[in-house]
Amino acid sequence: MLQGRSILLIVGGGIAAYKSAELVRLISKSGGAVRVLLTKAAREFVTPLTLASLSGEKVYEDLFSLTDETEMGHIELSRSADLVVVAPATADLMAKAANGLANDLASTTLLATDKRVLMAPAMNVRMWLHPATQRNLSTLRRDGTAIVGPNEGDMACGEFGPGRMAEPVEILAAISGLLGGKGIPMPAPAPIPELSGPHGVTASGALTGKHVLITAGPTHEPIDPVRYIANRSSGKQGYALAEAARDAGARVTLVSGPVTLPPPPGVTLVRVETAREMDEAVEAALPADIAIFAAAVADWRTKAEAGQKLKKDGKAIPPLELTENPDILARVSRHPALRPRLVVGFAAETEKVVDHAIAKKARKGCDVIVANDVSQESGIAGGVMGSDRNRVHLIGPEGTETLPEMSKSEVAAALVARFAALFDRLAGK
Ligand code: C5P
Repeated sequence: MLQGRSILLIVGGGIAAYKSAELVRLISKSGGAVRVLLTKAAREFVTPLTLASLSGEKVYEDLFSLTDETEMGHIELSRSADLVVVAPATADLMAKAANGLANDLASTTLLATDKRVLMAPAMNVRMWLHPATQRNLSTLRRDGTAIVGPNEGDMACGEFGPGRMAEPVEILAAISGLLGGKGIPMPAPAPIPELSGPHGVTASGALTGKHVLITAGPTHEPIDPVRYIANRSSGKQGYALAEAARDAGARVTLVSGPVTLPPPPGVTLVRVETAREMDEAVEAALPADIAIFAAAVADWRTKAEAGQKLKKDGKAIPPLELTENPDILARVSRHPALRPRLVVGFAAETEKVVDHAIAKKARKGCDVIVANDVSQESGIAGGVMGSDRNRVHLIGPEGTETLPEMSKSEVAAALVARFAALFDRLAGK
């Protein structure tokens, strides 16, 4: 899988450093060559000898080792690999890399490299959620750094939440994804977005410190153990919104029905199957500042799920008795205690798109409805569902706006910019 590829692994000083040994083993097993660089703090968690034995290479540690500099200077070290991986990426290493500090071998290497960098952040949940770390994360992303994880779960410090380093297998998958082409150069830094772009691209940091809750994808409502009721939602628009909100600095919880999309890095992903599970996951994720309900929740579920697979036994066709699912959007819009300041619903309509959306906004009690025309006549080849493009109308407290047809990620950036501005107006800022 990684035959002929070489990776420079920078191990930061955190409890997750012990997993770096497994990562080295996995990279080697996949045919990749790995050279390890340990920070001073990482030495407290994992020994150079372990990593040297597993990688079959010398482990680099000190910036000012003259022997190292004659054998391989730090500039060369940073450029000899096809990809630089930082795992665990501590808050400190992320801060240094985001700000261009170069006061030890790891940070100097990150500043000197001309190769793509993949970071696997690992830290205490408060440190991860701190606006400074989130700001550094946005900067790193804009500079072209790829991020894998962190995952949510119990942490060594006894707390629960996002901050656990991605598992070595997940990091390996990210590595091989990035190494699709050999020796990927660092991409040109993305231009710094401004709020007043042609369609209002998201201002970096516009949602810093905010918790944004998003639902996405379809729900699956079981009929029996092997059959279910579903719909054609791909989850693409909801996932794009999660990424756009994350890029605007928000802490994002994405409650997703079954989709085939990869988990967006830097987002807390809660996977569910049914509408009732989605409802529970949404409730558990509250409080949130902004809630965006982009999921195509099944309106109905079967009244009773058959315990065994229904058989075609030549008798009467079994009736499918349905019952209504909880309306998550309507419930959260009228939440007695934890209504987010801004609640956004989506409407997929095939006719009288804006009229129906205006009525839906009142019925559901939300602040904004994003209406999309899912009819075949929408002009988008193959229809909106599953497609990469979308054209939406925004029905908000201040009127209706129709955005031009764009990719779903452009739509997401434009929507998030508007939501951030509207949130501030609702907060009286
Ligand atoms: O009523 P309809 O399904 O058209 O409403 C669509 C909007 O309501 C979407 O924002 C969708 O995510 C949300 N919804 C929900 N729970 C349901 C049905 C719809 O949150 N059971």
